[in-house]
Amino acid sequence: MSPATMIESKSARTPSAETGAILVTGAGGEMGHALLDALAKRYHGAREVIAMDLRELPADRAAHASATYAGDVSDPTVAEAIALKHDISEVWHLAALLSTRGEKSPELALKVNVMGSANMLKLAAESASRRGTAVKFMFPSTIAIYGVPTLDAKRAAGRVSEDRCLEPITMYGVNKRAVEEMGRYYARHYRLLASDRLDCTVDFRSIRFPGIISADTVPTGGTSDYGPEMLHAAAQGKPYACFVRPDARIPFMTMPDAVRSLMELADAPREKLSRLVYNVGAFAPSAAEIATKVKEFFPKAEVTYAPTLERQRIVDSWPEDVDDSAARRDWGWKPEHDFDRAFAEYIVPKIRARYGC
Ligand code: SER
Repeated sequence: MSPATMIESKSARTPSAETGAILVTGAGGEMGHALLDALAKRYHGAREVIAMDLRELPADRAAHASATYAGDVSDPTVAEAIALKHDISEVWHLAALLSTRGEKSPELALKVNVMGSANMLKLAAESASRRGTAVKFMFPSTIAIYGVPTLDAKRAAGRVSEDRCLEPITMYGVNKRAVEEMGRYYARHYRLLASDRLDCTVDFRSIRFPGIISADTVPTGGTSDYGPEMLHAAAQGKPYACFVRPDARIPFMTMPDAVRSLMELADAPREKLSRLVYNVGAFAPSAAEIATKVKEFFPKAEVTYAPTLERQRIVDSWPEDVDDSAARRDWGWKPEHDFDRAFAEYIVPKIRARYGC
């Protein structure tokens, strides 16, 4: 997409010199939806928030941003055009194709997930150099960067810490892992080529998310989608055929905890951070345990199991849980919702309100 075809649907305000603008890519996606809400609550319009997505945002979403753009992150001219118009001091780069979708179109995933990230990292580096300040780059990575070869190895690996089992089997996982490394390059080495100033660099910070459950939105194109799909189906009184076996186990967390973790990592003083990339965890139920919990609240829920080879293979390659002790130690990470509280205090009340059930 050329800059000419990039649609700007709301004009920019004059950026604040002190704080600069926050650019959110993938603003129309599941996490973008929740993050725009959280940023609007935090800044109340006092800080410029620029929302970008492949498609134009619906009016209620766009209302949370001071400027919105419809454009393709993998087109370098789009990032260049945005950087010309705004003084960007933070990039929250959420745009990506998830794991199931990525296996259907691996080359498209590579283009969007890797080239899109490369364009955004370059934008951040150039913005840092122009402003003479560090530019924060918040990047959601994923459990999909891990890969265990067999179910026995998965059981033996248990809770996996950040530097183990790094052999992803999906294009999505490979892409996210590559971007983690690109982030490390821009944070630690790029400035050596560009300038000696340590204070005008990319401040890359990343979280490897487990499956995320939102009561407001249903995910598309992911492989952890069976968790949220089961719930949303039950709340609507629809039967659900789960695409993994009942014993399939990976970690999950709620969307409010996921967004809060990103915001807390963004707020943490750099000197407290011993890593660029952190695991976060909350609870790690099997598919059958999710179904049992769903039935506690929606007794008429009908869950059957119809595992599909490809998606089961992906879930089997992901660890059954993650070790998030580095996040807990360095920046005080603690999930608000464990498995029981996630359902009782967040998912069920919100999902009942949403579907009127
Ligand atoms: N939710 C993602 C997926 O299923 C994993 O991070 O692809």
